[in-house]
Order: sequence, then C-alpha cells, then structure tokens
Amino acid sequence: MLKGKRILLVISGGIAAYKALELIRRLRERGASVRCAMTKSAEQFVTPLSVASLSGEKVATDLFSLTDEAEMGHIELSRDADLLVVAPATANILARMASGLADDMATTLLLATDKPILVAPAMNVRMWVHPATQRNIGILKQDGVAFVGPNDGEMACGEFGPGRMAEPLEIVAAIEEQFGRPQPKHLTLVQPAAGSRTASVAPLQQDLKGRRIIVTSGPTHEPIDPVRYIANRSSGKQGHAIAAALAARGAEVTLVTGPVNLPDPSGVTTVHVEAARDMFSACFLRLPVDAVVCAAAVADWRVAVEAPQKLKKSGDEPPSLRLAENPDILRAIATTDAKRRPALVVGFAAETEHVVAYAQKKLVAKGCDWIVANHVGEGSGTFGGDENTVHLVRRDGVEDWPRMSKADVAARLAERIAGFFSAGGKTGARVKSAGKKA
Ligand code: C5P
Repeated sequence: MLKGKRILLVISGGIAAYKALELIRRLRERGASVRCAMTKSAEQFVTPLSVASLSGEKVATDLFSLTDEAEMGHIELSRDADLLVVAPATANILARMASGLADDMATTLLLATDKPILVAPAMNVRMWVHPATQRNIGILKQDGVAFVGPNDGEMACGEFGPGRMAEPLEIVAAIEEQFGRPQPKHLTLVQPAAGSRTASVAPLQQDLKGRRIIVTSGPTHEPIDPVRYIANRSSGKQGHAIAAALAARGAEVTLVTGPVNLPDPSGVTTVHVEAARDMFSACFLRLPVDAVVCAAAVADWRVAVEAPQKLKKSGDEPPSLRLAENPDILRAIATTDAKRRPALVVGFAAETEHVVAYAQKKLVAKGCDWIVANHVGEGSGTFGGDENTVHLVRRDGVEDWPRMSKADVAARLAERIAGFFSAGGKTGARVKSAGKKA
C-alpha cells in the first residue's frame, strides 16, 4: 500500500525522536521513500547522520543552506511528498504550526505544503492537557491536519497519562489509512480564477461543532480467568470509522472501544475497555451527551464468576462455565431518565435474514431512535471486511443504502446525524418503556 509513496518526515525535538528511526525503517520496508527534516532541538536527541543513513537521503535541517536550496528548494521538497508526517510532534511545533510560523526548515516545509499532514504528538502529560496545546490542536484539526495518538502510559519523565507518542507501527497504520482516504476538504484546491496565481481553499464542513457524541466500537472480551476470555469477531472498523467521520464534522467524540487491532482515530478521545461492564460504565460516566452511536458487538453474556487464578486441568471433567447476562448498553442509554438521555440514540443490528423487519422490532425493543441494520450472512464479508450493506431504519421510514465502504457508511451516517441536529434534533415518537430484548 505504501509502495512508491513519498513521505516527508519532520522530526521535532522530543525524547520520542529515537522512535522516528524505527518509523523510517518500517516505512522503507513497505516500499515508501522517506525524506526527513529535523528541527534544531531534534538534533539533540538523534543525529542527522543516523537519520540520513536510515532514510538513504540527505536530511533537511537548515533553511538557509545554499547548497540544499540549489539542489532542491524547500517549496519543492514539501510539494514533492505525497504526505507530510510530523513524528514526534512536540507542543512547541504544534504551536508553531497552529500559528502559521515558518521560522526554521521544518515549519517552513509544513507551511509551504499543499499535501496532507499527519501528526504524532509526544509530550509530557501536563503539556498535553494544557489549554494552549489543546487550543492549538483544535486549530490544526480544523485546518484538516490528522492526528495519531498520543497514547496513555508511563513517560520518560516518570509521569503517567496521555502524551506518549504512538508506536511506529501505529503511525504506519495511520499513514496507510491516510492514503486510503479521500483528501481532506481543505486540501481540495478550488480551480483558481483566470489570471489568479493562487488557489483558494474550500472550508471543512463543521456542522457538528459543539455536539458531544459517544461511539462504542469493537468486541468485548469477557474474562474467564486472568489469561482466557470470551470474545467475538468484530473488527471495530465500522465503529472507528463512524467516530472519525463525526469528528471530521467537528463533533467532540468519545470512542469507547473494546480490544481491536486498529489505531485510535485521530481527533477523537479514545477510551479502551475490555469487558461489557467496563464499556457500560465508561459510557454512563460521560452522559449527558447529544448523541450515542452503539456500534460495538457487546458480548451478551459474561462468565458469572471470573476465576482469580488460571484454571488448571485437574481430574477428568472439564470445568463448566456458568454465564450471566451483560448489561445492554444501548437499551440502558435509550431508556435512561430524560436528563441524561441523548437526543439521538443509534443502535446497530447485524442480521442474516429479514434484516429490515428484525431491525424495526429491535428499534422498539431497545427504545432507540435509529438502527443501522447490516447484513452479516455468509459471504457478506461484513465481519472484518472493508465494505458494508446497510439500511437506516427510523421510526418514520427506512433508507436502503447501496453496498459501500465502511468509511462511506460512516460519512453518510455522520451526514444524517448532522442533518438531524440542524433540523432541530427531534426524533418524534420516543418509547419510554422498552421491551427486554429484540
Ligand atoms: O441485541 P443485539 O446485540 O442484537 O443489539 C445490537 C445493538 O445493541 C448494537 O447497537 C450493540 O452495540 C448494542 N448492544 C449493547 N449492549 C449489549 C448488547 C448490544 O449496547 N449488551
């Protein structure tokens, strides 16, 4: 997927700069060519020589180097790339990018480009949560800059929390995702008027700005003992794509996800949980919100009593597992008190037959407003695949959508949700006492 792609990697000065070396290696293994630019402070952490030897290319460090400019000017360097990646991105470079500063080679390249930019922040947790950093991130997101990470964890400075740079392979996955995705709208250059030398830029539609939305995604893992669990085949691709699509329209999205093999979508607050009961609490803790989209494949049952130690083979009889029913997150949110109930509650229904009829029943049974019903029958390729065939079932009608990518389903659903709020945010009939199970 990265074969022949040209990546311009901007390395700024943080302890995570050493991970940029592995990132270069991983990208080149996948067939991408990598040119690098480094800030002065990055040179304190890794040497331009190491970066040049791993990338096999000269490293851009000095804005005023005459030889570099003669070989390839900074404008060409930034335009020659297919994607610009800033990893690690310190609070300082984010601030400079958000202000449009171009006071060294790295920021000049970032400002001169007309190509998509992906940023992997890395900084101390207090710098990350500082209102100034969060403000800068908000500005950059509005400009269409994509983010991967940061992850939660222990940091080099000994503190714990968000701020650790995403791992090189997570960044690679985010880069691959960038190439699989249509160009952000801000980069779709409008045809310049005759005689004009500069292209004007279309603004990103931010019609969900100010809306708080929770999305659940992925499977849940229900522990049997400390090493074993019950799980299902959900990949989380659809839920994650919905979270990203809502964030792209300006919503403040919290993605509550079970264990998946996907990077956290950029621009979204991601909460990682394991079991259904953790997902339930993570969602309820965040109410009230404007909307909830329950796309997770939550396990219906858990093991009633989790063994505190690994179960051992003993005697002839295998152990029997007694199951208990998990809380139904969708139903609980849809039927919670009016103060906490979101204006719009969207559930999913995966069916192998009578898809629409079953979804209509589920809508009533769960007390939700919309159901996205999808085909998961044999040969549908829905589980783990990149495409989906869905129907949007509402109380007042059904929309049949053609087969499309999960990203397109997500974008269309986000559009409908934005339409719902711009039309006043009323669902009409709301079921107060829902039945037990669809
Ligand atoms: O009942 P069923 O599992 O078919 O319902 C699917 C819908 O309900 C999905 O939206 C899923 O996310 C949600 N659900 C839930 N909590 C459960 C079971 C399902 O939120 N325990």
